[in-house]
Amino acid sequence: MPIRRITKHGEKVLKTACPPLDYAAVSAELPALLKDMWATMAAARGVGLAAPQIGLSLRLAVIDVKPEGKSQRIVLINPEIVSLEGELNDEEGCLSLPGVYHKLRRHARARVRALDEHGVSRELSGEGLLARAFQHEIDHLDGKLYVDRLPFEDRLAVLDAIKTAKPGWD
Ligand code: NI
Repeated sequence: MPIRRITKHGEKVLKTACPPLDYAAVSAELPALLKDMWATMAAARGVGLAAPQIGLSLRLAVIDVKPEGKSQRIVLINPEIVSLEGELNDEEGCLSLPGVYHKLRRHARARVRALDEHGVSRELSGEGLLARAFQHEIDHLDGKLYVDRLPFEDRLAVLDAIKTAKPGWD
């Protein structure tokens, strides 16, 4: 059962900050779990997926923004922001708020430190969409959705739009 159900706005797991992941404790199950996460993200045509979006409160997320149309998979375990720079106001969406997008100001460049799927600590830099994905996925691990960062009225508009929006993928 590689494709998992994606949790939606309103579900408690999405509002809960994930505790740090004990790499040694999960490493045996990690390859199968990551396989499911990649399959679930691809089926929903997303560019990122955090573990709470498949109902697991684990500090784990995957990202593939396909720079220049080519897959470039990134696994983030216990990610931390190292630095943030600049500003970019751009459309943002989330598989847990399907079918709706809204402008959100984020940092234009981000540097993060995380363990990769082999448990090796790495630092990664991104700009534009990748920087946005780093910030969006780390928010998920802190129990936050992008709508939580919008002004009250915009948040209501997004939540209202979701009721009638058609996700592009199910
Ligand atoms: Ni999301």
